[in-house]
Amino acid sequence: MSNPLPNDYLSYSPFPPSSTLEKWLEESNQITHQILTNLQEGEERVPQLPILNPPLWEFGHLTWFHEFWVHREGREDQPSFRADADYLFNSSEIAHPDRWSISMPSLDDLLEYNQSVFDRTGQLLHKPVDAKTAYFIQLAIFHQDMHNEAFAYMWQTMGYSMPFLPFQKLGSVQTGKQHFLHFPKSTIKVGSDRSTGFIFDNEKWGHEQELPAFDISSTPVTNADYLAFLESKTNLSETKPVLAPPHWKKQGKIWFERFFQEWLPLNPSSAVRHISYLDAQRFCDGLKVRLPSEHELSLLMSQKQQDWQSSHLWEWTSSPFAPFPEFKADPYADYSQPWFDGSYQVLKGGSPFTPDRLKRVAFRNFYQRDRSDHFCGFRTCLL
Ligand SMILES: [Fe+2]
Repeated sequence: MSNPLPNDYLSYSPFPPSSTLEKWLEESNQITHQILTNLQEGEERVPQLPILNPPLWEFGHLTWFHEFWVHREGREDQPSFRADADYLFNSSEIAHPDRWSISMPSLDDLLEYNQSVFDRTGQLLHKPVDAKTAYFIQLAIFHQDMHNEAFAYMWQTMGYSMPFLPFQKLGSVQTGKQHFLHFPKSTIKVGSDRSTGFIFDNEKWGHEQELPAFDISSTPVTNADYLAFLESKTNLSETKPVLAPPHWKKQGKIWFERFFQEWLPLNPSSAVRHISYLDAQRFCDGLKVRLPSEHELSLLMSQKQQDWQSSHLWEWTSSPFAPFPEFKADPYADYSQPWFDGSYQVLKGGSPFTPDRLKRVAFRNFYQRDRSDHFCGFRTCLL
């Protein structure tokens, strides 16, 4: 299908009423405030690592992003509430290491900046909004939701206490019910259409995809599965064996896992988490299984909930993050396009820190293959 519209994003319909947008915005911003105002003395200083951002920078950035797209039409020649906001907080412009060396405004100043921007959005939402405003407000909310989730996994990396209550509990997997679901060869619909509400540009456009027959596990890989492999002869005889996941430690004969600041005995039936794509691949190679493709996992995730068990994690797929045939960047062009360089893998699903409004089967998350700091896991397919 060719695209006759000059601005695709104006056609993402339906969009929620102002009252829903107001509610979402309040929820997301309340979580951000809770995270920042509960920071303990010194916790705002984090080491300069590629997987971290200074928390105050991240707060300034998400407020800047909101202001830039909702109130400044994505243009630097439209003034900001803060004269230094573009210099400090435009993630496309400021190099990652520089986020540690800039002169950071205080938390009070950033709260004030946030308040002035959100007050202005509140005024917009007192009346019905048009498609353009609704699009950019949703973009800003979902962007903030993603940064809230990033705070959660940064806190996990740092061993800080849980920054906000998860939307879902990290539960156990009913391992006795594990089986492989068989899907015969089929043609499926992937991606998203104009009529599915808000979408991200990397979902464009819905199209048909032939899928050969496959068999996929009804359950994710568990801690018990991973531990058995970790200690197996197959793994130990490898030149590059998988190592214990980043937040595991063994005391005596007992394995423990750190969840935020708390060390807990490893629950064998929980879905294994914080496994990189590279280690998930090694696990699969060792056990002669494979990771599902993004389309195979999407098909599983669109089945009735009683037929399969969610990991409540982002699940790795064997699909490199790549544009669909009719991809065209949306106004925030840095959302997807710069990351189509072949070094990112698609993940599907969602973590306990992902709000429901972001959990759509068509949503494509993506991370570099060596990352394991986010709440990720995996499941397998038969070869
Ligand atoms: Fe961002």
